[in-house]
Amino acid sequence: MCGIFAYLNYLTPKKREEILELLVNGLKRLEYRGYDSAGVAVDSAEAKDISIIKKSGKVALLAEEIKNRSDELNMGVTVDVHCGIAHTRWATHGVPNEINSHPQRSDLQNSFVVVHNGIITNYKEVKVFLEKKGHHFESDTDTEIIAKLIYHFHQQHPNFSFRELVEHVVQQLEGAYALCFKSKYFPGECVATRRGSPLLVGIKTRTRLATDHVPILYGKDADSNPEHRPHGRGEFPTLPRTGSTSEFEPLEDKQVEYFFASDASAIIEHTNRVIYFEDDDVAAVKNGSLSIHRIRRAGDDPQKREITTLKMELQQIMKGNYDFFMQKEIFEQPESVINTMRGRLNFENGTVTLGGIKDYIPEIKRCRRLMLIGCGTSYHSAIATRQLLEELTELPVMVELASDFLDRTTPVFRDDVCFFISQSGETADTLMALRYCKLRGALIVGITNTVGSSICRESHCGVHINAGPEIGVASTKAYTSQFISLVMFALVMSEDRLSLRQRRQEIIDGLKNLQNQIRDVLKLDNKVKSLAEDLYKKKSLLIMGRGYNFATCLEGALKVKELTYMHSEGIMAGELKHGPLALVDETMPVMMIIMRDPVYTKCMNALQQVTAREGKPILICEENDKETISYSQKYLEIPRTVDCLQGILTVIPMQLLSFHIAVLKGCNVDCPRNLAKSVTVE
Ligand code: M6R
Repeated sequence: MCGIFAYLNYLTPKKREEILELLVNGLKRLEYRGYDSAGVAVDSAEAKDISIIKKSGKVALLAEEIKNRSDELNMGVTVDVHCGIAHTRWATHGVPNEINSHPQRSDLQNSFVVVHNGIITNYKEVKVFLEKKGHHFESDTDTEIIAKLIYHFHQQHPNFSFRELVEHVVQQLEGAYALCFKSKYFPGECVATRRGSPLLVGIKTRTRLATDHVPILYGKDADSNPEHRPHGRGEFPTLPRTGSTSEFEPLEDKQVEYFFASDASAIIEHTNRVIYFEDDDVAAVKNGSLSIHRIRRAGDDPQKREITTLKMELQQIMKGNYDFFMQKEIFEQPESVINTMRGRLNFENGTVTLGGIKDYIPEIKRCRRLMLIGCGTSYHSAIATRQLLEELTELPVMVELASDFLDRTTPVFRDDVCFFISQSGETADTLMALRYCKLRGALIVGITNTVGSSICRESHCGVHINAGPEIGVASTKAYTSQFISLVMFALVMSEDRLSLRQRRQEIIDGLKNLQNQIRDVLKLDNKVKSLAEDLYKKKSLLIMGRGYNFATCLEGALKVKELTYMHSEGIMAGELKHGPLALVDETMPVMMIIMRDPVYTKCMNALQQVTAREGKPILICEENDKETISYSQKYLEIPRTVDCLQGILTVIPMQLLSFHIAVLKGCNVDCPRNLAKSVTVE
């Protein structure tokens, strides 16, 4: 949706130029989350006020603007303590212009500034209230009410701490948010909070960390409890007591840096030590110490937030030798599919262990039905594997788009097992559907790519797909890894079924060969590029198939739409004569997926229907399938694998095709217009 980044250096001298560069680089890492405008707020040159710099368009334009204003920003001056907040936006309320960009401010003096990811649903009511109190609004955003509300509370309670003010504000907000605040009244402090949108903090100290967790303080009065300060519980880092033989190096001057971000990719180059915030955490940095307080939901919450060590490498989020993240991610699939299977699938003895769900397998086997729920590409991975899940589990399998599932208020029962599939683990519709099912007592299984995401945390159990960071907005390697994770689940569910032994073995053999076969498919890149050259000026592209390859048609069409802005439709070949055949003539670009699987004859039937209407389909078919190839001048030959895995190989040419068309059309491959990687609003 939007990307939040904030940087606080405490007793760590930094030039203002470095700080701004750091903020801009943080935004660049998060740009895939939103890229229609960006902004930063830093202390003004004299450090008495706050300067806001905003620009519509990509982060690069903001960087240019900062450069243009370098004199006024006093770039050469070094500051020991400073807090800067930054934001890259994906517009929801108000067009993408400078006024609507974040940081949003409380007043003309920039007393309080805030960056926000999410949507405030009751902003109109709050706005009316604030207008009556004399506040004048300048933007069309929902976020501006937050900046004005905190200012209003500050005027009413001038003795409140920054954290207390934020706590007061969030009690009034409905909707989803991750927020980061800065104020001229609280220099060198930062307060951040979340509800429904992701947020984490990275911690960088010169010396070893004094603790591996930050205790949680409950309720509003935590600050006033003398037990909790100073150096008390809830503070980070903790100074060793005088004379202590503590194993920690003394943090003589408490040098520390904090990086608040919507996701870990923005901070990994600075530190690998992070704390993922939970909903209703309010994190405050004051005098270099971080404290986390909990509002609204005391009770059964954990007493502390662990500091997690990220395994991610910086290199994983860099483009390397590729021009685009999407391209890199497509070509990473030989490795990413292996990472999904690593440590889980034993090719020697044919066993599959999914550590994250193994304790729940007996319960899953007793369930009434499986429900697979997701959006976009994640939904397509469910369609791709439904047939195999039905076959190997012998359970009814429902596949649902999260948004539609919620619209229908679908009946869900205690003996249902609901899978929530999401690359980001933060998609609002999927998360809402998860909560809906959890409330009704179903077992919740998360299938995600993002450790520490909301879906991970709110699931009873799950499978991490281990595809590695996916930065391109178009999902590619996450799809093939989701696909494999669900196949492995089907294998686990059928491990004691003698009648399925042979079938399981052929699937396991297929998975073993997948890496090499994906490499072979990727060798078609040049051929796909020349097909793209034929197609990129066309208005539409129909993609037809059925059975195990129907999901490839839907996913291929989604890729073409989102990357090239060209109309494209995935068509179930069995539906042709029920309507779509009317579209076919000698001018309509058509692709058809025809593999030698149980529906081959039916697919050939569809092919004849298309060619009989002068259609000239491009075929995706099996290697050396002379008979099928004879129907068309244009084709891509794909290695054969077991029927239920074929979709992993047939989708790759579609990923490549959409990529090449986008490049030829001059579209922004990694950040398609109007889209964002992580859709954290409904
Ligand atoms: O992070 P998620 O997998 O939950 O995201 C769901 C969809 O928004 C996502 O798959 C979207 O369809 C992709 N951008 C398509 O390439």
